[in-house]
Amino acid sequence: MIDDGRWVIKTSKTVEYEVVEAADLLNPENPELSGVPGQLAGTGPRLVILDQAIDGLCGGQIRHYFSARGSPADFLTLPTGDEHKTLDNVLQVTSRLNTLGTSRLSTPPIAIGGGVVQDVAGMAASLYRRGIPYIRVPTTLLGQIDGSVSAKNGVNYEGHRNRLGTFTPPPRTLIDRGFLATLPERQISSGLGEALKLALVKDPQLFAVLEKYGPYLVAERLQDSSPKTMTEQPGRITMHRAIAGMAKELQKNLWETDLQRIVDYGHTFSPFIEMKALPELLHGEAVAMDCVFSAILAKQRRLLSEADLYRVINTVESIGLRPSHPLFTDEQALTLALEETTHHRNNQQIITLLDGIGQTIFVNDLTQPEISAAACRMRDFIATETS
Ligand SMILES: NC(=O)c1ccc[n+]([C@@H]2O[C@H](COP(=O)([O-])OP(=O)(O)OC[C@H]3O[C@@H](n4cnc5c(N)ncnc54)[C@H](O)[C@@H]3O)[C@@H](O)[C@H]2O)c1
Ligand SMILES: [Zn+2]
Repeated sequence: MIDDGRWVIKTSKTVEYEVVEAADLLNPENPELSGVPGQLAGTGPRLVILDQAIDGLCGGQIRHYFSARGSPADFLTLPTGDEHKTLDNVLQVTSRLNTLGTSRLSTPPIAIGGGVVQDVAGMAASLYRRGIPYIRVPTTLLGQIDGSVSAKNGVNYEGHRNRLGTFTPPPRTLIDRGFLATLPERQISSGLGEALKLALVKDPQLFAVLEKYGPYLVAERLQDSSPKTMTEQPGRITMHRAIAGMAKELQKNLWETDLQRIVDYGHTFSPFIEMKALPELLHGEAVAMDCVFSAILAKQRRLLSEADLYRVINTVESIGLRPSHPLFTDEQALTLALEETTHHRNNQQIITLLDGIGQTIFVNDLTQPEISAAACRMRDFIATETS
């Protein structure tokens, strides 16, 4: 073989991780929470990273779970809200992992909390010893139906959403819908914003459930507890369809080498506006407003009927959200938002537009007059809402 001074290293790795529905997770008789995926369970202590709200609500129960099972654990509580998705908090986690001497494989930390805690803990696990496994236990609806399937983690940086982060899925994510029983209604609605996004781009059946059961889903926090919902189980269906739909989309493009992602619907204008409005808008609220704004753009191009545009808006309202933030009527902010997203998408717009409810097309030729006209329509909606 001739040595020409060029060496190519080529390898591949199968990535497999699971999202498991697991009710009654905090019952000490249920081994799921303290389990270690694979056959590598070690004897050292586990770091359990807690969302501050979860610590307040069930910190005692969680500590009791580990002591009752004889599973050594140390606890670290993190603040939540997007303003706390910072590198400093990532380093807090890595520092505790270091103090505990967490091993490379056999004592994976466990993150119990909303999307912020998941993103911070996930990034810390991906950096510590160049990456260790961890267990994800999302406790918000957004975390359970969206973050749960994702391979991504990250923190906000220098005013940009998720500017630093990695693609490192945890081997196991445990979903206990019971956690949602204590979640504030506003957070339930925000999570349903992501379910709505998925329904609009690919799942008319899920859209029908949201359209019909929106207020029940919010009021019952997806627990299917009233006679009206017990048999039809819209909470369970919403959860299952959203997770399955997201999993199917991500699986074929996990590393996002293809930038044409229908799951980015609702995420064209919202990232910039969400950061600009911080902490006023929750993630799912901003996403739902972007869904409406983008539906207006589709209507302007005659891809969506006026009747379907109203179905979208009515469903947004029925899940407790409103297309109400003034930045979504601000042409300048919307233009800047599109510029930033275009830059992030390798200098192409790649905007997902609805082609009817449940179908999409990608466009790269959105113009300023279209944005201005849609901003104007958005202004009308907001005026009608508030009058
Ligand atoms: N990595 C990904 O792919 C991905 C996907 C979706 C969202 N995210 C990120 O997730 C974040 C949003 O997540 P979020 O909406 O869960 O916000 P969050 O983590 O801030 O949680 C919302 C609030 O609910 C509280 N809370 C959590 N669980 C609770 C419970 N069971 N009962 C009562 N209160 C509870 C939290 O303390 C917080 O105050 C954003 O930063 C977003 O970028 C990441
Ligand atoms: Zn999102």
